[in-house]
Amino acid sequence: MKHSATRWPAVVGVVALSIGVLVASRALAVEPRVREVLQKIAKLIEKGDEKEARKQAEALARTLEELNDVEHAYKLRGKGGLGVGREAGKVTPDGLELWLNAGSRDGVTPKALEKNARAFEEAAWMIAALSEVNRASAHSGKTQLKDRKREEVWLKLSAGVGEGARELAAAIRAKNVDSFQMALRKINHNCNSCHFFIRRGVVLPKGP
Ligand code: HEC
Repeated sequence: MKHSATRWPAVVGVVALSIGVLVASRALAVEPRVREVLQKIAKLIEKGDEKEARKQAEALARTLEELNDVEHAYKLRGKGGLGVGREAGKVTPDGLELWLNAGSRDGVTPKALEKNARAFEEAAWMIAALSEVNRASAHSGKTQLKDRKREEVWLKLSAGVGEGARELAAAIRAKNVDSFQMALRKINHNCNSCHFFIRRGVVLPKGP
């Protein structure tokens, strides 16, 4: 008796935990609708239609409940993120954030750059698309960037990611491993700064 009395709560706990994890991982994936628009924006930027890309990013930003709805994109493909390139299983790690971290730390070999050029370039345009949505979110009415100072920080960091992404695409096309790593570092620096400021409450991304 004593045994079953102590075991049951543990079983209930494990079941509750796994339900919790299921719910959380479903809620933390990029919705197919959002993914489709992001891919469209990435394509527009690749084609050089910056004006239309910006318009679409602004329209998307207005439909989001919070920025996290797009920021999930950066996670591993298997965890609700978009992955590196359109096709699964081409690049390891297959998640934009971890790929950025690894590449800015270790760089890339000329061989790997050659082999993965298309997937890397798609990743670069996707990061550019995401930065447009970040930028647009400053004006979507869903943020608390009420004063100019905060808005400036937000826009500067979003633009930093966007510039880095365009430099990254250029480095991939030029097959330049040094510029590739420099671009990844620039992107990473801007990602990290924005998250740092959010944690410190310097910029407040969510509405009340
Ligand atoms: C202008 C600000 C800004 C920039 C730049 C930015 N982020 Fe974020 N990021 C956010 C906000 C806001 C959230 C949501 C935080 C919250 O709601 O608590 C977030 C959340 C995330 C998350 C968590 C997603 C999840 O599912 O929980 C990841 C991963 C992420 N960002 C990666 C990145 C990467 C990688 C970059 C750079 C390429 C980047 N972010 C650039 C503002 C930014």
